[in-house]
Amino acid sequence: MDIAIRQQIFEDAKEWIYQAGQQIREQMNNPYEIDTKSNANDLVTAVDKSTEQFFAEKIRGTYPGHSIVGEEGYGDKVESLDGTLWIVDPIDGTMNFVHQKRNFAISIGIYHDGIGEIGLIYNVMDDVLYSAKKGEGAYREQVKLPLLRDDVKLETSVLGLNAQLVCENKYYNAKKIQQLIRDCRGTRSYGSAALEFAHVAEGILDGYVSMRLAPWDIAAGIVLVEEVGGVTVQATGKPVNLLQNSTILTTNKQIKDRVIDHYIEFN
Ligand code: IPD
Ligand code: CA
Ligand code: CA
Ligand code: CA
Repeated sequence: MDIAIRQQIFEDAKEWIYQAGQQIREQMNNPYEIDTKSNANDLVTAVDKSTEQFFAEKIRGTYPGHSIVGEEGYGDKVESLDGTLWIVDPIDGTMNFVHQKRNFAISIGIYHDGIGEIGLIYNVMDDVLYSAKKGEGAYREQVKLPLLRDDVKLETSVLGLNAQLVCENKYYNAKKIQQLIRDCRGTRSYGSAALEFAHVAEGILDGYVSMRLAPWDIAAGIVLVEEVGGVTVQATGKPVNLLQNSTILTTNKQIKDRVIDHYIEFN
């Protein structure tokens, strides 16, 4: 992607994120509709929808040749990663948005022909933007994030993981995940995949594992983590496919191999 064009896209995306964040902070003070999707705990609100619509209008108005994938369905029906693709999660951590009124983020990953060019994750209530451009490093606000340390061992790691991971299920061996929890130093569950990726990039989590994440949960985070020398793979060890949901591990290279080899066992 042309560097000048990418810079313009980056500036526009940043401006729209700050505008959308302001709108979310205003809308959450008034009553808003809350619906459920796949089950009673899978929430979506009018604010998720209006925020995604806001981005879809801005992107289509400014970049009519680009495609959009969004969680709430205001994007395009995308079947390939060709061209420039905006992968948008208008609110990542809707349950946190509704119940906690904090710990949620806007996540936007911008890809060109399948390559992650820009990642933006905005912690709306803390007003903190994590950003990255391929080859230019990752930032928390204006501060460049250092490369991940390559000497962090599993035994001294703090891992982000979804507590659902440890429940018995028919897909993988939950006992192995329980052993992972015993073997690492500690675990945290923030309830926003995008923020957990940002925390891995920031080095305050040493890794993050979660089941069945969607492209919009991870698209921005992948770019951020890659820019600090980390890796994101499917739990099988295969590369991520941004056209489907997958079980994801994002971390430094040493922990990645250890977790995949010893703690993830699919049935
Ligand atoms: C969810 C959050 C959550 C993760 C779920 C996602 P949403 O996204 O990222 O942390 O565990 O799998 O669906 O629905 O709040 O955008
Ligand atoms: Ca959702
Ligand atoms: Ca999400
Ligand atoms: Ca969402």
